[in-house]
Amino acid sequence: MANRLKGKVAIVTGAGSGIGRAAAILFAKEGAKVVVADYDEKGGRETAAMISRAKGKAIFVKADVSSSSDAKKLVAAAVKNFGKLNILYNNAGIVRWGNAVECTEEDWNRVIDINMKGAWLCSKYAIPEMTKAGGGSIINTASIAGCVAFAKIAAYCASKGGLIELTKSMALDFAQNKIRVNAICPGVIKTGMTKGILNDKKTLQGMLKATVIGRLGEPEDIAYAALYLASDESSFVTGTTIVADGGWTVQ
Ligand SMILES: NC(=O)c1ccc[n+]([C@@H]2O[C@H](COP(=O)([O-])OP(=O)(O)OC[C@H]3O[C@@H](n4cnc5c(N)ncnc54)[C@H](O)[C@@H]3O)[C@@H](O)[C@H]2O)c1
Repeated sequence: MANRLKGKVAIVTGAGSGIGRAAAILFAKEGAKVVVADYDEKGGRETAAMISRAKGKAIFVKADVSSSSDAKKLVAAAVKNFGKLNILYNNAGIVRWGNAVECTEEDWNRVIDINMKGAWLCSKYAIPEMTKAGGGSIINTASIAGCVAFAKIAAYCASKGGLIELTKSMALDFAQNKIRVNAICPGVIKTGMTKGILNDKKTLQGMLKATVIGRLGEPEDIAYAALYLASDESSFVTGTTIVADGGWTVQ
């Protein structure tokens, strides 16, 4: 067990798979007590069990981040079980396909509710607890789709662009509470979210070509960026984004 997060208590949302799972496991390995949050009970319980098997500390809390009562319950569970809250990693997210004409109102609302409102709700309830703990770090998984446009995912692009701006707004408002707020903008990462499109050979080739480093990302590539932002090593870093995209947006 290493100790970059020794003594800290962290919530990771969307920790039942992909990037969230990798981050929860890494945070625990670095000494944090981790609240694994997801609305997928099976995936969430699996992540918590993986951490426990590796002798880390974790609990699973079933929560839909787009629900105010679930967000409140999630923060309360962290404090009840581990005594305080230092780190919130807002990572839960979904994608729905369609340009602005094709996108249904239902899909638009769901994407905005989870990707953007969910991060706000969890932060809303986490910030007072972090303030009590003497400060903390909030990390938001945005996307390079919040910096540059991607075809046919209008709601997703809007949600991630909004999340980047929310990151800056919260960084400004809560610096006085010693709370830092940063975002990560991943490029294409091999997770459940991209599995479907990466099965298509032509799409896969296109994505590999656009990723100048010559490979797609692994969940751990993003988890390590989150670890840096969660730890005190980034104590002078707030209101910014780390782009971890293998060079997708350099040209
Ligand atoms: N995979 C990529 O290429 C990529 C690129 C950029 C950004 N991202 C972002 O990374 C984050 C993690 O995605 P991933 O790639 O690991 O995908 P994933 O589908 O493997 O993981 C997402 C997790 O979030 C959970 N989740 C979804 N809605 C939720 C809700 N309302 N409440 C609680 N949990 C919920 C899911 O159950 C799942 O476990 C997302 O915010 C996504 O937008 C992913």
